Amino acid sequence: MKRSTLKLLCCPRCQGALSLRDERNDVTVDEGRLCCSDCGRSFLIKNGIARFIDLREMEGLNRRFARIYDQASCICSLFTKMAFAVFGGERKARKEILDRLELNGGRILEVSIGTGANLPYLFESPTVGEVYGLDISAGQLTRCSSFVSERGWSVELFLGTAEALPFKARSFDSVFHIGGINFFSGKKEAIGEMIRVARPGSKIVIADETERVAQLLHRIPWLSRLSQEEKVDVDVPIHLVPDTMEETRVEGIWKAHGQYHGYCLEFRKPT
Ligand SMILES: C[S@@+](CC[C@H](N)C(=O)[O-])C[C@H]1O[C@@H](n2cnc3c(N)ncnc32)[C@H](O)[C@@H]1O
Repeated sequence: MKRSTLKLLCCPRCQGALSLRDERNDVTVDEGRLCCSDCGRSFLIKNGIARFIDLREMEGLNRRFARIYDQASCICSLFTKMAFAVFGGERKARKEILDRLELNGGRILEVSIGTGANLPYLFESPTVGEVYGLDISAGQLTRCSSFVSERGWSVELFLGTAEALPFKARSFDSVFHIGGINFFSGKKEAIGEMIRVARPGSKIVIADETERVAQLLHRIPWLSRLSQEEKVDVDVPIHLVPDTMEETRVEGIWKAHGQYHGYCLEFRKPT
């Protein structure tokens, strides 16, 4: 983590100010601790990644999915590539969403960055700015971190939940999320947080599979076995976007055999 990133961070629990304790005084912080001056909580920084959650403290779907993604991280990219092949390939499937972002050289936040599969498309844009990514799965972030350093990109990564982002209000010029919200423990909280950390006037873009596809995914044995007692609402979460947002719209994406298999929800935070 860059030392300068501290100015964007706050405590995910109480939004209090964080101070950094580390042994060295380098530009980047590989190991250290962030301490909240308001609630007294502290968060480890390990291998350059600030860890704002602990799997042992998580509950419900978030705990389950953090575990699933930790275990399945090695096959995630392959699985997604195979799934996207049906919709004309990974590039087309991802660009359908990413082309809606208004990159202007500012700060971009990907909520649930996973292994970083959207990064190649962001970094090929001449107007990409500083990139930040958060995910609930340490396994996904470890892969993302290697992917990023092999390519020499600068991306700041954080372990945390979409429902309680460790960033100060109005920190980002673009906020987007792809592929996880259907099974978040708190979709309303996550959307509220994306709005809170977005700069007024910026666009927020959220995409995931349609309800029909989400139900099909749950028939995959190891997924359904892990969550069969829970009934998950996988509607397009447009009803969770506050009326105060502007230009709110949903479009079908990932079309194959005459049907859309995903949705893209976008809206603008008022100035
Ligand atoms: C299907 S992957 C998508 C990854 C990436 N966005 C992409 O487009 O390839 C879903 C990601 O959501 C993350 N995730 C699930 N629940 C989360 C939550 N509550 N907060 C943050 N990330 C979460 C998972 O760990 C996983 O990396």
